[in-house]
Amino acid sequence: MRTILMVLVTGCIIWSCNSPKTKEIEKEEVTSTVTPIERGKYLVTVLGCNDCHSPKTMTPNGPAPDPARLLSGFPANEILPPFDAETAKSYVLFNMDLTAATGPWGTSFAANLTPDGTGIGNWSEEQFLKALKQGKWMGMEGGRQLLPPMPWQGFADLPDEDVRAIFAYLKSLKPVDNVVPLPIPPRG
Ligand code: HEC
Repeated sequence: MRTILMVLVTGCIIWSCNSPKTKEIEKEEVTSTVTPIERGKYLVTVLGCNDCHSPKTMTPNGPAPDPARLLSGFPANEILPPFDAETAKSYVLFNMDLTAATGPWGTSFAANLTPDGTGIGNWSEEQFLKALKQGKWMGMEGGRQLLPPMPWQGFADLPDEDVRAIFAYLKSLKPVDNVVPLPIPPRG
């Protein structure tokens, strides 16, 4: 009987010492060490935004995002190869750095996501939420639906907090002056 009591008492002491406090500390560490900008940078990296939105430089390991033009979209001065109607019938075509794509929807150009006036410099957080989660062009209520290959459907369930963190990171980037062309409608 005594042993059982001892075990119970020791158990209670260990429990009260450990569980609630450890949880508190863990929670505090998570919220205090990662800033929204760092979280946003992490999300942009793992969600692959650079794949389409960053012009690339060629490296021995293949194309890599160009740090000088990070997330600035399809470069306005780039000339696309001539449209090949026959190939376009059965393939989705990308330019070399994946910033432009041609398919049944026409040709679309990845947007400038840097905080320049030609990018998202004048956007509000609400606009950005609407663009990323509801696929609305420029985040406008009556805006057209964003075209493929922008995978906004896959971002619809992102918590608003994460989308705000992505916006904070994008706002911290170097502004790049680059007017991305409007999409070209399907060419029959
Ligand atoms: C597979 C390619 C691809 C990926 C990956 C991608 N995008 Fe896009 N994105 C595009 C294209 C192309 C457009 C332009 C679509 C259009 O004109 O309708 C676009 C448009 C946008 C727009 C709307 C811009 C405007 O002017 O309305 C935002 C905002 C955006 N992308 C943010 C992101 C973010 C943030 C990520 C990563 C979480 C991301 N995109 C990942 C290709 C991509």
